[in-house]
Amino acid sequence: MSIKLEKVSKIYKTGEVETIALHDVDLEIKEGEVIILLGPSGSGKSTMLNVCSGLDKPTSGIITIDGEVISSMNSKELTKFRRENLGFIFQQYNLLQTLSVRENVEVGREVSSDPFTVEEIVEQVGLTPNIDKYPFQLSGGEQQRVSIARAVVKNPKILFCDEPTGALDEVNAKEILAVIQKLNEKFNTTVVLITHNPSISVMGDRIIKLNSGQVVDDIRNANKKRASEIKWG
Ligand SMILES: Nc1ncnc2c1ncn2[C@@H]1O[C@H](COP(=O)(O)OP(=O)(O)O)[C@@H](O)[C@H]1O
Ligand SMILES: [Mg+2]
Repeated sequence: MSIKLEKVSKIYKTGEVETIALHDVDLEIKEGEVIILLGPSGSGKSTMLNVCSGLDKPTSGIITIDGEVISSMNSKELTKFRRENLGFIFQQYNLLQTLSVRENVEVGREVSSDPFTVEEIVEQVGLTPNIDKYPFQLSGGEQQRVSIARAVVKNPKILFCDEPTGALDEVNAKEILAVIQKLNEKFNTTVVLITHNPSISVMGDRIIKLNSGQVVDDIRNANKKRASEIKWG
């Protein structure tokens, strides 16, 4: 699925204070692209992801996903749209501690009309031997792979990742990025991946840099690399 932003702004009001988190952003993301969204802390990366995915509403502007204007949907329509089309991965794994790997992934599957099987996706993220384990029996990297499986089992058209490797060491982080890369290649899933680590850029089709709520750079990467080739900064 493609994403289009037209003059999108987001202003947070906290008491008397106004924060312009996004300022007149125009952007088009094509189906199947891997977008690496870079920028310093506070530059608006999470806000951009939240409004692009309908988790939050822009203050002004239009956001269209595959021809559907999500910025004018009500919250019920948005919830349905997100459930059917979008997957999310965050720095925190947000797994249900009392459920096994299989059951955690099943939770993601229930909300979809066109899902993969749990076994197929658990295999894709390399956790077949761990399918009956519980989160506390897994390493951080393995837990993040469960959260990826849960996001991907419903066959999302876009995968939004907000600092997915923020809590991981280099080895685990590269494995997680390799899983995301593989899913993009296998299913043509559009990927929007936020990071503050510029070395991850090499795996993107496009690197978009934000600063103070504005796109300051939008670079096409002609020399895309495997996640395993990333030189950690
Ligand atoms: N819910 C909120 N209420 C008020 N201000 C917010 C809120 N969320 C983010 N901000 C502010 O908006 C700006 C952009 O934040 P954010 O999108 O989280 O940046 P990033 O993800 O790049 O670190 C920051 O100045 C932040 O303090
Ligand atoms: Mg953020």
